[in-house]
Amino acid sequence: MSTAPPSSPSRDISRPASLGGVLSVPGDKSISHRSLILNAIARGDALVQGLSGGDDVISTMRCLQAMGVNIEPAGTAGSYTVKGQGAQLTEPSDILDAGNSGTSMRLLSGILASQPFVSVITGDGSLRSRPMHRIVDPLKQMGAQIMGRQNDSLAPLVVRGGGLKGIEYDLPMASAQVKSAIMLAGLSATGDTVIHQPALSRDHTERMVTAMGGKVEENGLDLVIHPANLNAVDITVPGDISSAAFWIVAGLCHPNAHILVRGVGLNPSRTGIMDVFQEMGAGDSLQLLDQRTEGGEPVADILVTSTELHGVEIGGDLIPRLLDEVPVLAVAACFATGDTVIRDAAELRVKESDRIATTVSELTLLGANIEATGDGMVIHGKGSGPDVLNGADCESHDDHRLAMAMAVAGLLAEGETTVHGAADASVSYPEFWQDLELLLQDVR
Ligand code: S3P
Repeated sequence: MSTAPPSSPSRDISRPASLGGVLSVPGDKSISHRSLILNAIARGDALVQGLSGGDDVISTMRCLQAMGVNIEPAGTAGSYTVKGQGAQLTEPSDILDAGNSGTSMRLLSGILASQPFVSVITGDGSLRSRPMHRIVDPLKQMGAQIMGRQNDSLAPLVVRGGGLKGIEYDLPMASAQVKSAIMLAGLSATGDTVIHQPALSRDHTERMVTAMGGKVEENGLDLVIHPANLNAVDITVPGDISSAAFWIVAGLCHPNAHILVRGVGLNPSRTGIMDVFQEMGAGDSLQLLDQRTEGGEPVADILVTSTELHGVEIGGDLIPRLLDEVPVLAVAACFATGDTVIRDAAELRVKESDRIATTVSELTLLGANIEATGDGMVIHGKGSGPDVLNGADCESHDDHRLAMAMAVAGLLAEGETTVHGAADASVSYPEFWQDLELLLQDVR
């Protein structure tokens, strides 16, 4: 590991003799966004604990503050009080900046669509190139006026909201962001909103709206959202399984590892990665300890130890349950015996980077035998591909998950790996490099 300062744009990593320690990952990013947004439009005050300090969640917080929502630190790190404004927010006096965060832009658009004022929301270069027609179309159908670049498909978006009516909508893709934008708008619409999902995506909005007194009927993949005034609720945000996944891969694939990740959220709509590791043969090397329920979400400590994995074929309904974990899953597949095939994951092409292209290009630099397909990738692991990866210079492509996946590859490869754009990890995991250092100390 280099002695580069934390603000360094690149980090050097090589494989340690052992990896070990106990750590906690940041609060779940998806639940963190929702705990701020839903409490902001609720009646009453809420205490949110364990909020992610990642840049994305801070973007949501700043946008809400710009609309008059009082959100203040409440003592301990990650604790905030949110003073609910009820359904009516204040017209922002300037452009709202969602930064790198698709969740901020899409979920907040669902709120802006219901507000009888004009707002403009934008983001960084990556976010301004990501598809927004997927939320603009249904929100327009509900009655909001929305304009954006390229036929209203790209941010900045200009929204004049209010006067919404419920619609019946076939979601074209299994996206929790799109589903949530429509649900949030539906809360202030006249009449019910019906959403038909092609597959289950994360259901944190459904859970939180229900916990706040809203009514969401779930019938298989169909949802009915009734208009509702929400009541504030205190929320304890569990650790983010998408962040824990980096240490799970490092622990399973490193030959001498013992890592305990405390307090990880295990909502079934997010645990596809755990199912896949079991299918890859993780067995007792991946154990759930002290399983409990916190704030309505299942939580456990995850104990990870070294093992040998084998390749797997995945696709279909499993994909939305592990979509954000694919880059690091591809790293694991390089160290697994045999081939891994990932299908039905074309949504990866419209994330913070085109994660099919970027995962393939960066792992190729380390000597992996990996091919991109239209909707996924094929990774030839040990036996059918190389037995080892070799450290190389690689890039984050301005994508936090790529930066962290390549860091994990660097912990497992021979020689030195340099990750350029290392600071991008702060989008979801500001303490990532410190936690990596901690595991290198191996204080078992
Ligand atoms: C998220 C949903 C997912 C995920 C993103 C967070 C959310 O996006 O990739 O990191 O909080 O709703 P889609 O559901 O749009 O694919």
